[in-house]
Amino acid sequence: MIQFLLNRELRTEHALDPNITALNYLREHLGKSGTKEGCASGDCGACTVVVGELDNERVRYRSLNSCLTFVASLHGKQLITVEDLKHQGQLHSVQQAMVDCHGSQCGFCTPGFVMSLFALQKNSSGFDKADTLEALAGNLCRCTGYRPIIDAAEQACCQKQPDQFDAFEPQTVAQLKAIAPQDTAELNSGDKRCLLPLTVADLADIYAANPEARLLAGGTDLALEVTQFHRELPVMIYVGHIEAMKRVEVTAESIEIGAATALSDCYAALAQDYPDFGELLHRFASLQIRNQGTLGGNIGNASPIGDAPPLLIALGAQIVLRKGNSSRTLPIEDYFLDYKVTARQEAEFIEKIIVPRQQANQAFRAYKVSKRLDDDISAVCAAFNLVVEDGVVHSARIAFGGMAAIPKRAAACEAALKGAVLNQSQIELACAALAEDFTPLSDFRASKEYRLLVAQNLLRKCFLELQAADVETRVSAYV
Ligand SMILES: Cc1cc2nc3c(=O)[nH]c(=O)nc-3n(C[C@H](O)[C@H](O)[C@H](O)COP(=O)(O)OP(=O)(O)OC[C@H]3O[C@@H](n4cnc5c(N)ncnc54)[C@H](O)[C@@H]3O)c2cc1C
Ligand code: FES
Ligand code: FES
Repeated sequence: MIQFLLNRELRTEHALDPNITALNYLREHLGKSGTKEGCASGDCGACTVVVGELDNERVRYRSLNSCLTFVASLHGKQLITVEDLKHQGQLHSVQQAMVDCHGSQCGFCTPGFVMSLFALQKNSSGFDKADTLEALAGNLCRCTGYRPIIDAAEQACCQKQPDQFDAFEPQTVAQLKAIAPQDTAELNSGDKRCLLPLTVADLADIYAANPEARLLAGGTDLALEVTQFHRELPVMIYVGHIEAMKRVEVTAESIEIGAATALSDCYAALAQDYPDFGELLHRFASLQIRNQGTLGGNIGNASPIGDAPPLLIALGAQIVLRKGNSSRTLPIEDYFLDYKVTARQEAEFIEKIIVPRQQANQAFRAYKVSKRLDDDISAVCAAFNLVVEDGVVHSARIAFGGMAAIPKRAAACEAALKGAVLNQSQIELACAALAEDFTPLSDFRASKEYRLLVAQNLLRKCFLELQAADVETRVSAYV
């Protein structure tokens, strides 16, 4: 049985197919067709809804793609759809702003935009263009053009007034507390089940008892198996209620990130030490996907074009894997064995990711090359982690995504740099070595020739940036 709030109405579902997405639940079970289906793959934003979660004595609102959200993951939360915004016969201020600024033509994308704007307004204290572009990057409109929609964002954020969600917030907090999960929940129908443990120990036990289960974190990858490939997932275990796996702890030595931490919540700690990691996370999918997709899921799906793994490999991150009562710690680079083959054993899961803190003289650069700036998958993703002292490379950890069947270190390139004076001619030797490291594939994202050239050019770009930044690394002294 799962329970959640549909706006302020309590919904209790005893028997529901756990493979149903929130989008299909709204449209097909409840007949609420305001939320639209454009792509069912997280690309268009037409299905955007807002989910409220308890955050101390407040409700934290975030936009999500309902097409990628399995309904079971709403347990204990508040689901707000476009139908909930109009109040006492009055449009919500974000809806009114869309009308006033002519932000809609055919209207198919409009509910999704409205919900992204609603989440933006809830989380802002004024208009900020960069935040607006970030909030809307996961919403596509093919007829209006974005300027009027950005104007609507400006109006909605500048003229923000308390709304019915603010007025009812104390009641909503009380309702959310009343339905806060207290124990492992289960949603099932026929022979399909989704189990929702609350602790790491319960997850370990439940997974050991159901080793065939698929782990469900944000579902931004897993849900595609249902919505795009029309597969059935008979048993899922949802990890998103396990608080210990959603924590980010920063110590003097490391940044420890629970595997179920949403990508949006990883941002601050990673960007603090490694600004390029932050910049790359800004370009990771869309805000909706970063609000639900997790760091553990990005590693767990073992995609050769996943964005976080090359950066984590270059940083020398480790992952803690848990199975039953035992845990082991593995350098993340040893996790990826072959295309979609990992070192994860049956019933083993990623509990957390440990990223070393920045050290003196360390230069970290990361780049993503994709066809579109926002909401696109990498053709090549590169990460360079160099420790340079007095112009000499003391250590080099370089990793790429999109260049092989797995995210992989560039051993020959690293060897060409390690111990060498960092100058243009050494960089050219290291660029040549990249051809020994990788034999990339051609696909619809990029040809193999393009991939190799881009990888080499990203190394050159890294060198030029370090030269420009100079100072501690004193790179330019040796050019
Ligand atoms: C439109 C769109 C754009 C995207 N853009 C990007 C992008 O720019 N860059 C990028 O890298 N990815 C991108 N992705 C892929 C996806 O969003 C990410 O990989 C995300 O981090 C997956 O996290 P999740 O929590 O949603 O994983 P889920 O879908 O829940 O799980 C993914 C896989 O990992 C497994 N898993 C989950 N948690 C664990 C765990 N703790 N231990 C072991 N296995 C686990 C699951 O069983 C599943 O096999 C995109 C996806 C979509 C739909
Ligand atoms: S329907 Fe396109 S993102 Fe969900
Ligand atoms: S108004 Fe038609 S797609 Fe946006």
